[in-house]
Order: sequence, then C-alpha cells, then structure tokens
Amino acid sequence: MVFDYIDGAAGEELTARRNRAAFQHVLLKPEVLVDVSTRSSRTRLFGQDVAMPLVIGPTGLNGAAWGHGDLCIARVAARANIPFVMSTAATVGMREMDAAAGRLRWFQLYMLKDRGLATEFLKQIASYRFDVLQLTVDTAVGGRRNRDIRNGFTLPFRWTMANLVDAARHARWALQMARHGVPTLKVFADLLGGAAQGSTISDVMQQQISASFSWSDIQWLREQWDGKLVLKGLTTPTHARLAREVGADGAVVSNHGGRQLDGAGSTIEMLPAFRESAHDMTVLIDSGFRTGVDIAKAIALGADGVQLGRATLYGLAAKGEPGVARALEILGHEFDLAIALCGARTVEEMRGRYTISESRHLSEL
Ligand code: FNR
Repeated sequence: MVFDYIDGAAGEELTARRNRAAFQHVLLKPEVLVDVSTRSSRTRLFGQDVAMPLVIGPTGLNGAAWGHGDLCIARVAARANIPFVMSTAATVGMREMDAAAGRLRWFQLYMLKDRGLATEFLKQIASYRFDVLQLTVDTAVGGRRNRDIRNGFTLPFRWTMANLVDAARHARWALQMARHGVPTLKVFADLLGGAAQGSTISDVMQQQISASFSWSDIQWLREQWDGKLVLKGLTTPTHARLAREVGADGAVVSNHGGRQLDGAGSTIEMLPAFRESAHDMTVLIDSGFRTGVDIAKAIALGADGVQLGRATLYGLAAKGEPGVARALEILGHEFDLAIALCGARTVEEMRGRYTISESRHLSEL
C-alpha cells in the first residue's frame, strides 16, 4: 500500500505515464571534440549557491516510506548542498526538522481555509528560517487516486485483513513502523492541536485546504511573506504571466506527478512556452523526472532547476538515508555525463542543446 501511495497517480494514470513518455521526443544534441575536462554542475537558485540544478521537492507522509523519512531526506540534501522542500503534510514537526535541515531551507504551503491560522503558520515557517515558500496551487480539490482507495490507505491506518497481510509480508517495514510509530501529519497536528484524521490522505488535506483561494488572493500572501514566493503547479503561458503580475519570484511547472488532473499534458511539453512567458522568473519543473538525462533535457529547454518527487522517495523507501543519497548520486552522475557528452562544461552552456524529435512535435504530443 505504501508503494502504491508513492508510485500511484490519479484516475487511469494517463498523465503520469505521459510525463515519462514525452521525454522520448526531446532529443539531446551530442557535441564532440570539445574540451570538457573541467566542468561543474553548480548553479544558483533564488540567489543561493547549489551543487546541481536539483531540488528535492515536497512530498507528504514521508514517514510511511521510512521511519522519520523527512529527516533522512533533509540530512542527505544538506550534505549534497541542494534544497529540500519540507511539505505541509510532513510527518515530523518543524522543530525536529530544524536540527536536520541545512542552509537551504524551503517550505511547501497548502493554503489553509482559516486565514488567521494561515498567518500564524507563515510566522512559524519564517521563524525556522525557511526562506523560499512554494505555494502548491494545483490542489483546490484532491485528485482521486484509485490505488489508495483500493488499498484502504487511510489516516490513521486502518488495519484491514489485507493490510495486515501486506505488513506481515514486509517485516522490515512493519518493524520500522513499530519502532517509530505509525506516521501522522505532524505539521498539521502541531498547528491544529490534534491529530488530523480522514478516510484518505486527500480527504484529510481537503478538510483544511482552501478550495476558494484564487489569483487575487496571492496579493494577500505576498504581503504576509517576506521571503521568495514560488507557485507550484503552473503549466501554461498564461499562468506564467499571471504569476509575474502577482509578484511571484518563481514557479514550478508541475502536474503533481499526475496525481491531480489525470488527462493533463506532460510538463516537459509545456516547458518551452512557459519559459518564454516567464521572462526572468525562476522556472523549476517536476513530474516524471527519473534520470540525469531527463534533468539535462529540462535544462536544455530552459528550466533553472528540476524538482524530484518519486525518484528520491523510491531511494528512501528502499534503504532510508543511504537510499536517498544513492538516488542523488546516480542522478548527479548521469547529469554530469549527459552535459559532458553534449559538450557543455556548465549548466549555462547546456541551454538550447536539444532538438525535438521529427516524428512528433512536442506541442502535438
Ligand atoms: C507528492 N507531491 C506533493 N506536492 C506538494 O506540493 N505537497 C505534498 O505534500 C506532496 N505530496 C506528495 C506525496 C507523494 C508520495 C508524491 C509522489 C508526490 C507532488 C510532488 O511535489 C511532485 O510535484 C511530484 O512528485 C513530481 O512528480 P514525480 O517526480 O514524482 O514524477
């Protein structure tokens, strides 16, 4: 059930599959006889030096994959010198995260229905020195994730016969849960003063998240938050223009890994038009990134950086902290090789080193 929670997506999972398939139509341009003996993947995001154009994006309920999963990810990100975005749906509190997090502290916000509580929340986030805030905007309503419904993946866990058998077949995982306790939405619980409960994870979120928050309300958020403001879940050139107009510093081109609107296009096919409309806004992208070559393609198409969702979570679920580190190591190595073989010595030199497959134009995908 935990694998399905991570791996699954909304509806028929068409968008999740398209996120992967679309990469086939972006082709990198190899370059030869260029001196690439010295090269670097370093770049800057929101004025911060980072080791690679890579961010570990926000994912909720990380404690279900590994005991204190959020802390494992935060420690690896701190050592690797890349940002980690703590989720509003984290299973550890901000105080625990404070000890594990490094210099690059980003936070993902789900806009709460109660503005007073939201103001309080923003103050707390700032007090723990998170300086980049990603407001997730593609979750006005929760996606229908059939695998979670089928598995009875609920909060708190319901010990159905099927789930007991599932746990018994995964003894290491079951022991971890026994040691660390069944994960809860700790950030929510700290804020609301009680355990958040509901029939599915998206139901829990729905009870608290505002479905009415709209473009005109971003002004309010802009006034409450002094740090960098990023909108996560934008896809179209109009979104890019509106984001600039409301004073956002950046955007994450994202379809939530196909977990929200099944039937939406892939993000990599949306990227070129989005980049053009975004002008000097920082443009990050996620959804479907699994290899360093995928990352190189996004950089070639103009993204400033790539956010990871499942790629690092699979590592976390397989082996905890070393698993996350290994996932990053593989991605970093593949990215370095890809840019070198494209004749690029820096992230900047990688720009434009792509062609779109002749058989399918990206916009016709
Ligand atoms: C997510 N995502 C997500 N996004 C967000 O803003 N807040 C959250 O709490 C979560 N939770 C979450 C849990 C799990 C298990 C997954 C897989 C994803 C979405 C995430 O940030 C990102 O947009 C997608 O994961 C990107 O797609 P890939 O890389 O997983 O294909």
